[in-house]
Amino acid sequence: MNLYKYVSEQINEKLGMPVNLESPRNREFGDFATNVAMVMAKQVGKNPRDLANELVGKLTELDFVADANVAGPGFINIKLRDDFIWQNTTAPKQMDNATPQTIDLDYGAYNVAKSLHIGHLRTSIVGDTFNRISKFLGHKTFSWNHIGDWGKPMGLIIAWIERLHPELPYFRDNFDSNTPVNFEINPNELNTYYPAASALAKQDPEFQARAQEIKAKFQDGHPGYFALYEKFLSVSLNAMNNTVRRLNILPFDYDLGERNAAKYLDDVEEILRDKNMIYESDGAEVINVKRDTDNAPMPPYMWRDSRGADTYDSTDLAAVYCRKKTDNPDKIIYFTDLRQSLHFEQLFRAADMSGIFPYDRFEHIGYGTINGADGKPFKTRDGNAAGLDDILDMANDAVQERVKESGKELDDETIKTIALAAVKFNDLLHDVRSDYVFDPSAITSFEGRTGPYILYTAVRLNSILNKVQSSKIKVQNEYKMNTDERNLLIQIMDFERTIVSAFENRATDMIANYAYDLAQLINTFYHNCPIMRDDVDDETKLGRLHIVRVARDTLATTIDLMGLKVPSEM
Ligand code: ARG
Repeated sequence: MNLYKYVSEQINEKLGMPVNLESPRNREFGDFATNVAMVMAKQVGKNPRDLANELVGKLTELDFVADANVAGPGFINIKLRDDFIWQNTTAPKQMDNATPQTIDLDYGAYNVAKSLHIGHLRTSIVGDTFNRISKFLGHKTFSWNHIGDWGKPMGLIIAWIERLHPELPYFRDNFDSNTPVNFEINPNELNTYYPAASALAKQDPEFQARAQEIKAKFQDGHPGYFALYEKFLSVSLNAMNNTVRRLNILPFDYDLGERNAAKYLDDVEEILRDKNMIYESDGAEVINVKRDTDNAPMPPYMWRDSRGADTYDSTDLAAVYCRKKTDNPDKIIYFTDLRQSLHFEQLFRAADMSGIFPYDRFEHIGYGTINGADGKPFKTRDGNAAGLDDILDMANDAVQERVKESGKELDDETIKTIALAAVKFNDLLHDVRSDYVFDPSAITSFEGRTGPYILYTAVRLNSILNKVQSSKIKVQNEYKMNTDERNLLIQIMDFERTIVSAFENRATDMIANYAYDLAQLINTFYHNCPIMRDDVDDETKLGRLHIVRVARDTLATTIDLMGLKVPSEM
C-alpha cells in the first residue's frame, strides 16, 4: 500500500479540503502532522486552535486513526492504528498503470573507438535506474544507446590508420568491398588511435584537413573507408557490451546512434527546406533557433558544416525524427553531462519549430562532474583523466583492502559486486545535477550511506530467511508491534510514494536515500528484536519473520531498481 497516498486521500475526503500532510521522521507525537487548521482558520473565520479541535473530532472517526490531537498554535498530529499498519504492509509489486506513458530514454551514448570516460558512468547509472523505475511504475520505455559512430572522430581514426598502414587497400578510391583484407584491429590499440590522432590534428593542419576530407567521403559512402570502419566498429561494440555487462545495466533496446540517424537526414532536410529554416552562414548551413524573448545568446544550430558534412546537431535532429516514427513517444529524455545543455536547448527548439517533435515533450537531465579531493574533475594517479574502468578498478582495490583488513574471505566475484554497488550507489545518492567527490575509500565503507552497507543489510536478512522454510512463515491477523517494528513497517509502506516521487521529480537520489533509511530501520530492528533466540515465544517469532520477509523483499526491489546485485555472503 502507498500509505501516504491512502491516508491523505482519506483525510481530504473526510475534511472536504486538500490537506497538506507531513510524515515527520520522529514519530513520537504522531505518524502524520498537518497545519491545515492554521492555513484555513482565516478563511473560515475561526481561531486556528478551535478549528484544529473541530477537525480532530472528524479525523478520529476515520477507521485507521488511533488518535489525533492538537499541538502548539494549531498543528494536528495523527497516530495510525497498529492493526491497520500490520494488516496493510505488503512487499512491493510492479504496478499496473492506468495512464502509462511511452518514454524514449537516451543514455549511455558511448563513442566508437574511444574508451569510456568517467562521464559515461553517470549517464549509464542514472539513465538505467530511471528506466527501471519507469518500467516498475508501468510505463513503456525504449532505451536508446545513441552511439557516437558517425562524426569527426571517424575521420580522425581512419586518417590515423592510414598513417600507420598506408599500404592497406581501404584507402584506394576503387576499393572493392569483396576484397579480403588481412588486417585485424587490436582493441587496446584502437583506444589509443583517437587521442593520438586528435592531438596530431591540433598541431598539423595537413593531417587535420586529411581527416576532414576522409570524414566527408566516409559519410558519402566511400567503400574502403566503410569497410575499415565496420572493422573497428565491431571491436568497439564488443567493448561497449562488456561495459554494459560490467555495469549491470539493462541491455539497450536500440544500439543505434548517429549513423542510423543519418539515414533520415534527407527526410528532415525536406521538412526544414519546406519551412525555409536552413540558411547559409560562413559556408555552413545553419538553423536559427533564437526567440524574441531570449536574453542569453543563442547561437544557430549547425545543420551542415562548411565542408558539407553531417554534424552532431543534424544527426540529433534526425534521431528525433526517427524515434517519433519508430516509438511515437510521449516524452524523449536525454541523460548527458550538464555541459551539453545548450546543445539540447537548441535541438528541442529546432525540433519544435520544424514540427518534428514538440518542445515541451523533451527533457534534458544534465548531470554534474565527478571530482577528486581537489574539487577538479577526477584524475588517476598518473594525472590522466580517469576512465570508467579506472573508477571501477579503484573501487575494487578499495573493497579488497577492506575485506583483507577485516579478516574476511570473499571471492573475486563478490568483491566485484560490492565494488560496483559502492560506485553506483554513491552516484545515485547525489542529486543528479550536482558535482560530487569520488573517494574510493569512503564509498566502500561497510557502514554509513554506502552501497556495501545496503548490500550487507540485505545479506543479513537473507541469511535469516535461509534458515527457515518459507512455508513456515505465516502472517498472523494480529500482532503486537513494538516501536522498532512499527517504524520499519511504516517505512516499507512509504516505498511506493518514494518511487512515484523519484519518477515525477526525475530524482533518482530519492531511491538511494530511501534504501539507506530502510536499511537503518532494518538494522535497528535486527539489533533490538531477537528472532531465533530460545526465549522468544512462537507468536513473536512468527511476527518477526514476517517482518523480515517483507523488509527483505522491499529492500531487494529497491536494490534491483538501482541496478545492484545482492551477493550470497559478505
Ligand atoms: N556520444 C556523446 C558523448 O559521449 C553523447 C550523446 C548523447 N546523446 C545525444 N543524443 N546527443 O558525449
